[in-house]
Parts: sequence; C-alpha cells; structure tokens
Amino acid sequence: MPEPEARQHTIRIFTKADLPRAAVELLSFIKQKKIILFEGEMAAGKTTFIKAICAQLGVQEPVSSPTFSLVNEYETDGGELIYHFDFYRVENQAEALDMGVLEYFSSGHLCLIEWPSKVADLLPEEGVEVSIETGEAEEARIISMSVYDGGIDG
Ligand SMILES: Nc1ncnc2c1ncn2[C@@H]1O[C@H](COP(=O)(O)OP(=O)(O)O)[C@@H](O)[C@H]1O
Ligand SMILES: [Mg+2]
Repeated sequence: MPEPEARQHTIRIFTKADLPRAAVELLSFIKQKKIILFEGEMAAGKTTFIKAICAQLGVQEPVSSPTFSLVNEYETDGGELIYHFDFYRVENQAEALDMGVLEYFSSGHLCLIEWPSKVADLLPEEGVEVSIETGEAEEARIISMSVYDGGIDG
C-alpha cells in the first residue's frame, strides 16, 4: 500500500546556510499543490525563504517583496510561472479582488503568498500553510508546514 501523504512537516534551521535544504524539503512536501501561505511576523524570514525556494526552481529574476504591486511574477528554468504576493499593505479585500487575485489563485501556477490573513476570505480551499518562527539563535528558525484542504483539519 502506498504511504499516506504527509500532512505536517517541521524543519529546524540553524543558520541561513540551511535555507537551500529547507527549500528542497518544502518543494518535496508540497508536491503538486500550488497555493502556499507564508505566515510569520515581520522579519520572520518569509521573503528570504521564498527567495531560497525560487532559487531552487531556477528563477533568474531578482526575488523581492512585491510591496507596491502586490504581486511579482517570476519564471522557473523549466518555463513555469510563479506568482509572489505580499498582502501586508493591502487596504482591504476589495483591493485584492480588483487586482485579479482570484484569477491568479486559480491560474494553476505556483502562488507564494505573504500575509495571507489579509485576504482570508479569498484564499482557495486547498493549499499548504507554512509558518516561520524565530528560534533561540539569531539565524535560527522553525518552519512548520501543513496541508489544509478545508476539511476537518482545515
Ligand atoms: N534562517 C533565516 N531564515 C530567514 N531569514 C533569516 C534567517 N536568519 C536571518 N534572517 C534574516 O532575517 C530577515 C528576514 O527578513 P524577511 O525575509 O524580509 O522577513 P519577512 O518577509 O518575514 O518580513 C532578513 O534580514 C534575513 O537575512
Ligand atoms: Mg516579506
């Protein structure tokens, strides 16, 4: 019998040098899921982790928080699109709707989403939640990932 798909996975990071390995683990954990929510307070390391994930996927463009446009688009070395959102400064959910967030979310392309709680009502029912917490040491982080699907765990 195939092993049941893992629903939860935690990675402990000791220094930033561990980020490429964490990115590989995240990519293997999410499998074909496209909606990835990054939770964690300011400077927890959401954007930095997303940079490491994009680097793993062969993105050549500079990866940075899309502060003014709400979304950045990147391309992997395999020609796949990635959308990187940061909703920290979004005024309300209507503003996100106006920029076409639902079309992006349903595009079938990988969506890496910072501050998803700001658009809570607009998020698809299935995805992966990634929570980043700071640890004891300056560069230490605890990265917890869990699949959500709107079911009893969601
Ligand atoms: N292990 C780590 N993972 C991610 N960021 C780290 C780590 N250690 C130190 N940092 C630093 O913490 C800061 C995180 O900033 P950023 O990624 O912009 O956070 P956020 O997007 O969550 O606001 C950066 O200055 C980064 O260099
Ligand atoms: Mg950020």
